[in-house]
Amino acid sequence: MKRSEVNQIVRNAVDFFRRHQFLLPPFAYYELSDWRNRLAASREIIDLGLGWDVTTFGTGDFAREGLLLFTLRNGRFQSREYPKVYAEKIMMVGENQITPQHFHWHKQEDIINRGGGNLLIELWKAGADDKLTDEPLTLSIDGELRTFRSGETLRLRPGESVSFTPYSTHRFRGEPKCGPVLVGEVSMVNDDHADNCFIEKKDRFDSMEEDEAPLYLLCSDYDKFLKADGK
Ligand SMILES: [Fe+2]
Repeated sequence: MKRSEVNQIVRNAVDFFRRHQFLLPPFAYYELSDWRNRLAASREIIDLGLGWDVTTFGTGDFAREGLLLFTLRNGRFQSREYPKVYAEKIMMVGENQITPQHFHWHKQEDIINRGGGNLLIELWKAGADDKLTDEPLTLSIDGELRTFRSGETLRLRPGESVSFTPYSTHRFRGEPKCGPVLVGEVSMVNDDHADNCFIEKKDRFDSMEEDEAPLYLLCSDYDKFLKADGK
């Protein structure tokens, strides 16, 4: 992706989260000088990759297939330093903006519509061989069990949530004409580098073309901007 495009997406998200009164922690707005002055204090943020995350899943077409996320909290699996066993994210999902078919081997996650439009989620059950099956999938929707046919769509309205167990395969997008969706995620500790199984080959993190300075660093920028210079 081009940095100028990422900056614009982050600007839109700042606006969108404010409109929905979802307030972000201070590190969302750190400038490069803030990070460099607070390197020791902010070690947890950097080590765990908290903060802004923009992806097109390797397609380069954010509006069609992409996602903006902000990781608010996370831990590291079986780590003494970061023993937190839970994680939380907030996301902005546009109308018809697809997050492609995937499941998680280990993570159990609740996906929550926290406001805006409706979230359309297509559902499948994956087998032990990591391939989709045509079996039905039973999920807890706000504490009530519901069974879905393979490929059936769940419409999550504002306030509603679904709980995904491992191997529950999901693809989601915002419903057209309903506006972008503020989507929350509350989950077990999460490793986005190792626990996303995409049904079709995807890249979770895009490469970056630096055509302007970053507005705010993405979690995938910390290595490049903060660790490499050794300050
Ligand atoms: Fe997921």
